[in-house]
Amino acid sequence: MNSPVFICERAEVRLASATGDKVILQGIDLQVGRQEFLCLVGGSGTGKTTLLRALGGFCAPTSGAVLYEGKAFRSPPEGVVTVFQDYGNALLPWRTVRANVALGIEEKISGAELDRRLDTALALVGLQKAEREYPAKLSGGMQQRLQIARALALQPKVLLMDEPFGALDAMTKAKLQDELRNIQASTGATIVFITHDVDEAIYLGDRVVLLAGSPGTIASEIRPPLPARRDQISTKEMPEYLHARHELLERLHGAAR
Ligand SMILES: Nc1ncnc2c1ncn2[C@@H]1O[C@H](COP(=O)(O)OP(=O)(O)OP(=O)(O)O)[C@@H](O)[C@H]1O
Ligand SMILES: [Mg+2]
Repeated sequence: MNSPVFICERAEVRLASATGDKVILQGIDLQVGRQEFLCLVGGSGTGKTTLLRALGGFCAPTSGAVLYEGKAFRSPPEGVVTVFQDYGNALLPWRTVRANVALGIEEKISGAELDRRLDTALALVGLQKAEREYPAKLSGGMQQRLQIARALALQPKVLLMDEPFGALDAMTKAKLQDELRNIQASTGATIVFITHDVDEAIYLGDRVVLLAGSPGTIASEIRPPLPARRDQISTKEMPEYLHARHELLERLHGAAR
């Protein structure tokens, strides 16, 4: 078997709160496989974002270990790109849509290659027509797609995404879910994806990990036995899909009790 991309070993994260240090995550044992699509679900406040931040190099474990390619790290490793939940703040208002997508790659590539990369990323999220607009003129869903385009343009090895499709309408969400799986298949990226949407987790994930409690721990995981090629209509009618969905809903409700 390939070596895992991430290894968390009894990882604990404490953060400062008004009442002193608080343990946010405890005893996290998790391996993220190469080219795995891992979904993280769990109630609000169970530490999903904190875990993603630890994987992305934005916060370090206070005990135990979080390793990327076998090594501890203190800042975002090369090739690991995070799409944050508060996407609005991540866009530069004085840059056009296209210039926002160019952020982070324009120093590395230029000319026709840069243009191709930007065109591809904008097309993937359906923002070609808006490329000359400024972020303030975009709807929330378009701003979110812009942030995704920016992440895709970086051609990341690992994509960490915090509820990236939460604010989108159902049709756009379905389209982007399929695009994301296609992108993963064609680029071989590893994806860790937070969602509150049970259907999204089962449809997208090779594996779904459930966080629960406070401090947050890994309560359980599910591997939906679905084919690699998925389809919004027929996959969601498969007995395996319905069974995995039922199981995950039961566990989520059980964890919330
Ligand atoms: N920077 C911070 N400093 C102190 N405490 C924090 C910080 N960020 C989050 N927390 C606390 O950590 C806990 C977990 O927060 P986190 O954002 O990881 O949860 P979450 O599972 O992503 O929730 P949601 O589903 O609502 O996004 C919460 O109790 C929160 O108050
Ligand atoms: Mg969160």
